[in-house]
Amino acid sequence: MQSAVILANNLSKEFITTKKSSGLRGAVKNLFKPEKTVKRAVDHVSFEITKGEIVGYIGPNGAGKSTTIKMMCGILNPTGGNVLINGMSPVNQRQKIVMDLGVVFGQRSQLYWDLPLGESFELLRRIYLVDRAKYEANLAELDRILNVHEFIDTPVRQLSLGQRMRGDLAAAMLHSPSVLFLDEPTIGLDVDVKYAIRKFIKEINEKYQTTVILTTHDLDDIQALCKRIIIINDGIIVSDSPLEELIEQELGHRLLIVELSAGDFHVTHPKAEITPLGSNRLQLKFRKDEISAAALISDISAQYQIRDLQIKEADINDVIRQIYARSKAACL
Ligand SMILES: Nc1ncnc2c1ncn2[C@@H]1O[C@H](COP(=O)(O)OP(=O)(O)OP(=O)(O)O)[C@@H](O)[C@H]1O
Ligand SMILES: [Mg+2]
Repeated sequence: MQSAVILANNLSKEFITTKKSSGLRGAVKNLFKPEKTVKRAVDHVSFEITKGEIVGYIGPNGAGKSTTIKMMCGILNPTGGNVLINGMSPVNQRQKIVMDLGVVFGQRSQLYWDLPLGESFELLRRIYLVDRAKYEANLAELDRILNVHEFIDTPVRQLSLGQRMRGDLAAAMLHSPSVLFLDEPTIGLDVDVKYAIRKFIKEINEKYQTTVILTTHDLDDIQALCKRIIIINDGIIVSDSPLEELIEQELGHRLLIVELSAGDFHVTHPKAEITPLGSNRLQLKFRKDEISAAALISDISAQYQIRDLQIKEADINDVIRQIYARSKAACL
């Protein structure tokens, strides 16, 4: 059995904020009797992630994803429970743990704003005590996928978003960490850069067995990269399962669209729900566990001439929307 690289056990975070009342009376009240509110951003979250997994950690805005990641990399202290990364606590063994971690926050660069990208890398090399030969080799390898040499002499503040994100990813991997936390690494990027970043994540995972936790609102990223997804809503984990299983559970059916040669037809099938889609086109909704697409096509083509056909795969956006809606209703 694989041992856990990340082990979260009832991990919780409460934020206490002061409600601000307006006006002079409000200011006096704020001063002497501030009204406190407690926000439970992460609520008894538990999971186990093994070496080499790429796990999608998804949920609606404000669900608690970034807060979880910040606790996992030691930026925030939990108010309850704990998390261990490679058996170490991000709170008590922060110095040691950072050597094993790479972190990218798409919303905020970790790079030195005023320095050329290459100088940021050099500083990180010294901070992480990476010897020069290893650094050169790592940088060459990262450059092969991310093409950072194109703007390595440009100050970070002058980089475009896509260039900056590629720089941030390279910076996070310079010290060859075994665990990578990516919090919205493709936010606001064009399709080419997104593709490069997905390729990068896939390659480092395959080559070095890097364990990756990825948060994103782009479900194409999830579909391209993650076999397992954990869904959090309002601080609570509402689902943790292989992506395929989740799609299967939520959408037990598939769709076959057929276009028949012109003619008078009245198609029926005991294992498919049939809806006409305009002239000569039909939608057949069927359950994969009741009949295969091949058998259905063969049954239809035995009676009618099929001119064209299309099997519609489950749309992950529909699946996730369904789960968010259900977990939101459960919270109300
Ligand atoms: N420093 C803070 N002080 C008070 N509340 C906070 C703080 N950080 C986060 N929160 C609150 O905790 C909740 C979870 O926030 P978090 O940033 O983890 O969400 P998220 O899932 O990353 O959302 P998004 O998809 O928008 O990035 C939100 O209600 C947020 O307002
Ligand atoms: Mg976030």
